[in-house]
Amino acid sequence: MSYVQIENLKREYVMNKEVLVEALRGVTFNIEKREIISVVGASGSGKSTLLNILGGLDRGYTGKVMIDERDVKEYNPNFYRRHIVGTIFQQFYLIPSLSVEENILLPMKFTGDKDIEVKKRLDYLLDMVGLEKRRKHFPKELSGGEAQRVAIARSLIDTPKIVLADEPTGNLDSKTGDSIVNLLKEVNKKEEVTVILVTHDRSIAKKTERVITLVDGKNV
Ligand SMILES: Nc1ncnc2c1ncn2[C@@H]1O[C@H](COP(=O)(O)OP(=O)(O)OP(=O)(O)O)[C@@H](O)[C@H]1O
Ligand SMILES: [Mg+2]
Repeated sequence: MSYVQIENLKREYVMNKEVLVEALRGVTFNIEKREIISVVGASGSGKSTLLNILGGLDRGYTGKVMIDERDVKEYNPNFYRRHIVGTIFQQFYLIPSLSVEENILLPMKFTGDKDIEVKKRLDYLLDMVGLEKRRKHFPKELSGGEAQRVAIARSLIDTPKIVLADEPTGNLDSKTGDSIVNLLKEVNKKEEVTVILVTHDRSIAKKTERVITLVDGKNV
């Protein structure tokens, strides 16, 4: 059985009982464990809607999303967001008042398990994303590419099974964007995580193993 199974996924946005938008109109596809795929499509085609559902942030859908043979709706939401998925966005979303290493450790803050293992993991991730020398820096002292590397390390601190990336290169020039995609490919291999990369840029998408195209809320 595929690791991720998406079946007849639909998402409508309703306001005052009127259907405003059919953001997803029946998306069906599978993703294998440790695969790296892209989802492409025009603006408004439903890419972020799909990613938010996979990220456990949106439960207002119909259809089925199974991860590891379990319905996403059956997982404890906090467990799901900590241990199953890690997410990165176009805007990085680093906390300005925290250093690079504090930002990476942020998901751990609430659990109190900041022990030797966590420190080891932090060092390992800083090395992998090439930011050992920036660990005490603050977000405003980083380039866009560096900021996204911090976000990638943060998404991995809890060793998720799936990394979801929504337009991770959208705020970067093409060379820096390429290096971020290459890093995600490295992460996919080294961490053995499934990577789902959303982009409207076909040249970026082509760098992954497989491309899913959304048109008006359906995969074609
Ligand atoms: N919270 C919301 N309420 C109402 N409509 C929404 C909401 N979020 C998204 N939509 C609509 O759903 C459709 C799909 O939006 P979505 O954000 O998934 O597109 P996208 O493919 O990510 O676009 P982009 O490339 O611009 O990021 C759009 O028509 C959008 O206007
Ligand atoms: Mg989007």
